Amino acid sequence: MSLMEKLSLKGRTAIVTGAGQGLGLAYARGLAEMGANIVVAEISEKTGPDAAKELSGLGVKSIFVKTDATKREQLDQAVVAAISLSGTLDIMVNNAGITLWKEAENVSQADWLKLMDINVNAVFYGCQAAFAPMKKQGKGSIINAGSMSAHIVNIPQAQASYNTSKAAVVHLTKSLAIEWAKFGIRVNSISPGYMSGPMAGPFWQDPAIGGVWKRMSPMGRMGEPEELVGVITLLASDAASFTTGSDYVVDGGFICP
Ligand SMILES: NC(=O)c1ccc[n+]([C@@H]2O[C@H](COP(=O)([O-])OP(=O)(O)OC[C@H]3O[C@@H](n4cnc5c(N)ncnc54)[C@H](O)[C@@H]3O)[C@@H](O)[C@H]2O)c1
Repeated sequence: MSLMEKLSLKGRTAIVTGAGQGLGLAYARGLAEMGANIVVAEISEKTGPDAAKELSGLGVKSIFVKTDATKREQLDQAVVAAISLSGTLDIMVNNAGITLWKEAENVSQADWLKLMDINVNAVFYGCQAAFAPMKKQGKGSIINAGSMSAHIVNIPQAQASYNTSKAAVVHLTKSLAIEWAKFGIRVNSISPGYMSGPMAGPFWQDPAIGGVWKRMSPMGRMGEPEELVGVITLLASDAASFTTGSDYVVDGGFICP
């Protein structure tokens, strides 16, 4: 098989949680461009249907399944929908996540639990939901949303709960990779740096926040969501058949110094 054939996702089916906007939508576009059908597993009824419509315009099948990724049974419904598209679930991207900037002493129990529920529990439930069909197929690729915050403590903003959640995702990914290698299921994570878009983008212009980030950034800029897509489509494909338990940091060199 040629490298181009190994990279192709034609006829495969992917679920992307939180694909209504931001990085999830960019990942879904990239996977669709490489030929994959997409289930948009998004909580927002405002963005989800439009995302699925746009992706269908790329010549693949795409549907919106309203999904709260913190609810295992709703993820199971997304899996049923994926299998109805092509008969398989080949790629699971557990992307949905939230952030919280608050000094640790002011983080309430409710704040902490909400963040861990979406950033950690939902990733675990997404992996679990994908397990049965992937085991049956003897093959599958799971990609979880880490962050460079799994590896560094960001400044100047205080975000201990977020950093902790992303470190948990990276280690969960490695743990599942070990448990599921024997079933042909690969589990990897992607750890972006500061990206343009609703989560981090607006702060880049603020000298007190973005100014600090810019001085610390070797490239002196944020990343564009499209700059993550090559890694996502590679990990999803057969070209990455020996890659599991890896965390791909894509941050313009931010965490190197
Ligand atoms: N943007 C960055 O700079 C950056 C950097 C590193 C890591 N990340 C991670 O990448 C992921 C995506 O970030 P983003 O910047 O695109 O965020 P975003 O806020 O732009 O998009 C998140 C999407 O997830 C959806 N969502 C939220 N809760 C959900 C739930 N319970 N179930 C299903 N969908 C839900 C939202 O509706 C939204 O469409 C997150 O896990 C984030 O932590 C982002």
